[in-house]
Amino acid sequence: MLSPLLLAAARSVRTRRLVTSVPLTRGVVDRFVAGEDLDAAIGVARGLGADGLRVTLDHLGEDTTDQGQARATRDAYLEMFAAFEEQGLAGGADASVKLSALGQVLGGDLALDNARELCAAAGRVGMTVTLDMEDHTTVDSTLGILGKLRVDFPWVGVAVQAMLRRSEGDLRDLAGSGSRVRLVKGAYAEPASVAFQSKRDVDLAYVRGLRILMRGDGYPMIASHDPRLIEIALALASERSPTSYEFQMLYGIRTEEQRRLAETHQMRVYVPYGADWYGYFMRRLAERPANLVFFLRSFVSR
Ligand code: FDA
Repeated sequence: MLSPLLLAAARSVRTRRLVTSVPLTRGVVDRFVAGEDLDAAIGVARGLGADGLRVTLDHLGEDTTDQGQARATRDAYLEMFAAFEEQGLAGGADASVKLSALGQVLGGDLALDNARELCAAAGRVGMTVTLDMEDHTTVDSTLGILGKLRVDFPWVGVAVQAMLRRSEGDLRDLAGSGSRVRLVKGAYAEPASVAFQSKRDVDLAYVRGLRILMRGDGYPMIASHDPRLIEIALALASERSPTSYEFQMLYGIRTEEQRRLAETHQMRVYVPYGADWYGYFMRRLAERPANLVFFLRSFVSR
């Protein structure tokens, strides 16, 4: 019951104002977000790297309706690429990018042009780019932009959400040679007409997706904290070379497991940073109602 409410709140301007205006929120946000500035992201990436974990950096922001803001997001990524190169952290690092933050809803080629600039700059410093997947209304546009980017940057990856009924077909299309595909369950509130609704159905769809990717010629990125799905992925990957796929988890979630898996497998941590943490934070609350209790308790205990 709580998850749909929290996901609706993630897009509510009023709730955003309320939650972000309370200083105490920060303590809880810090569990999931590296910090508000680039220095914080660099510090977290360096620490994870020292423990053998790779990173994908997300400069927080989404649903941009303003061209200037879209350009500012692009510039923030360009600044991050330059800083990572200067700090010796760029090689093997990845950037996770939401096209809605680069102007996808503004139409035309704005998001494509911005993303193209990001890919060119990332490639120059030895980083890759992965497109996050947002709600189902954006999937066609995101896959269309991915196809155009991959002409010049064949290493650009994309997230595919197991919960969407269409995703099996998308995964088949994407499982070809050189393709980097991140399989996630899906973090958005979606109607039954387009998405599986129960955990069981989403998990079964995730396993079907894993099968497609593991049998394909691409590079599967298994992004889940679910111990059962990780076991299944390991079993399905037994025939593959250990460098031909990777696991991914979010910063602050199952950190012990991240380190345990990194001892034997490639593991990448999704590191969000920036001031616009509200939508990301609310989706993390929605995934686990216990987080909401923890969040509310932090107010009572002060
Ligand atoms: P599930 O939600 O069933 O969780 C399994 C277990 O993991 C839980 O029992 C709990 O122990 C732990 N856990 C999971 N979430 C937690 C939380 N918030 N707090 C504390 N513990 C938690 N989605 C999307 O729609 N588009 C995208 O582009 C991406 N990108 C992305 C990248 C990466 C690297 C990851 C790991 C995830 C995403 N996601 C995403 C989010 C994804 O769709 C999904 O919402 C979360 O990963 C939670 O699903 P799990 O597979 O972890 O399973």
